[in-house]
Amino acid sequence: MVESQDKELAATRLLNAQTQIWNHTFNFIISMSLKSAIELNIPDIIHKNGKPMPLPLLISSLQIHPSKSPYIHRLMRILTHSGFFSLQKLPQTSNPLEEGYVLTEASTLLLKDHPLSATPFFLAMLDPVLRKPWYEITNWFQNDDPSSFHTAHGKTFWEYAKVDPNFNHFFNEAMASDASLVISVVIDKCKEVFKGIKSLVDVGGGTGTVAKAIVRAFPEIECIVFDLPHVIDGLQDSRNLKFVGGNMFEAIPPSDAILLKWILHDWKDEESLRILKKCKEGIAGKGKAGKVIIIDMIIENDKGDDHITDKLTENQLLFDMLMMVLLTGKERNETEWAKLIVSAGFTDYKIYPVLGSRSLIEVYP
Ligand SMILES: C[S@@+](CC[C@H](N)C(=O)[O-])C[C@H]1O[C@@H](n2cnc3c(N)ncnc32)[C@H](O)[C@@H]1O
Repeated sequence: MVESQDKELAATRLLNAQTQIWNHTFNFIISMSLKSAIELNIPDIIHKNGKPMPLPLLISSLQIHPSKSPYIHRLMRILTHSGFFSLQKLPQTSNPLEEGYVLTEASTLLLKDHPLSATPFFLAMLDPVLRKPWYEITNWFQNDDPSSFHTAHGKTFWEYAKVDPNFNHFFNEAMASDASLVISVVIDKCKEVFKGIKSLVDVGGGTGTVAKAIVRAFPEIECIVFDLPHVIDGLQDSRNLKFVGGNMFEAIPPSDAILLKWILHDWKDEESLRILKKCKEGIAGKGKAGKVIIIDMIIENDKGDDHITDKLTENQLLFDMLMMVLLTGKERNETEWAKLIVSAGFTDYKIYPVLGSRSLIEVYP
């Protein structure tokens, strides 16, 4: 009896292990299915319908070959299981089997016209240029290239963006889509961070999404978007917003405050230290009024014991790998942040853990 129970348990364990391996083997199927759904405009079509959308109506609204109609419910089934759509009973019907698709919060954020749309970021990360480095990780471990991206493409990420205008464009769009969402939360939850600031430089500020939102919310602040020349090329200055091209390792325009959103995680400690020291020079002369505002992750050391913390930790660990594979950077825990901040000559910092898997860190001279 005991022996047969042991055998049963061993078999269950074996099958669970196989299920875990299979689910992770095929994780990419969810992102590739979602990519196709976005390219077929499915979230936008369901949104435009305004009420639960039955499968036949969805199919007839899609630009697909008629021979592919029978396959759409399978695409929708995996994406519904993954939480990107849900099924609701149709209004004005007593038949419980008559259901239609509705958006969830995640697919609402993927609508193309959503002011905070996450679609440009999502599609950029699945582009073959950014996928190729993932096939090179083992080679990278065995060579002395700075990143797996370099192994895949023969140059660094930023060199590639400089010579490939299409990549430069969609990467900047991807950053801008994240920037809209983050800065809307920052302005809502961390207003006090901007109090008393008259000038701010957004270092590595891309095409200026964050700076534009800051000057809209705080018209008394003069903003400079400082980025590599090919990123800011052709962008128009306005009354209190200027675009300046340059290299943050050489000099950063002086100001009351310097913003570093998603900058330091791109770089290893030595490089981040050089950037932070340049920031310190940039705010020199502002006395205690000067500050550096960092928006980045503070990685949790403990695996969370509730579902949300666990999801955030997974998010952070995925980004840490992303930084390792595409760039030379990493996500840091609080101890690592503190060491970096103090080594650059700053005296103190304050963390605002209000941005999901990211935080805002106010750093004082
Ligand atoms: C990950 S992106 C973040 C963009 C923006 N801060 C955001 O979060 O939306 C990093 C930015 O740093 C810029 N960058 C890279 N190297 C730089 C350098 N040496 N000097 C100035 N900017 C640089 C890139 O062009 C890019 O816009």
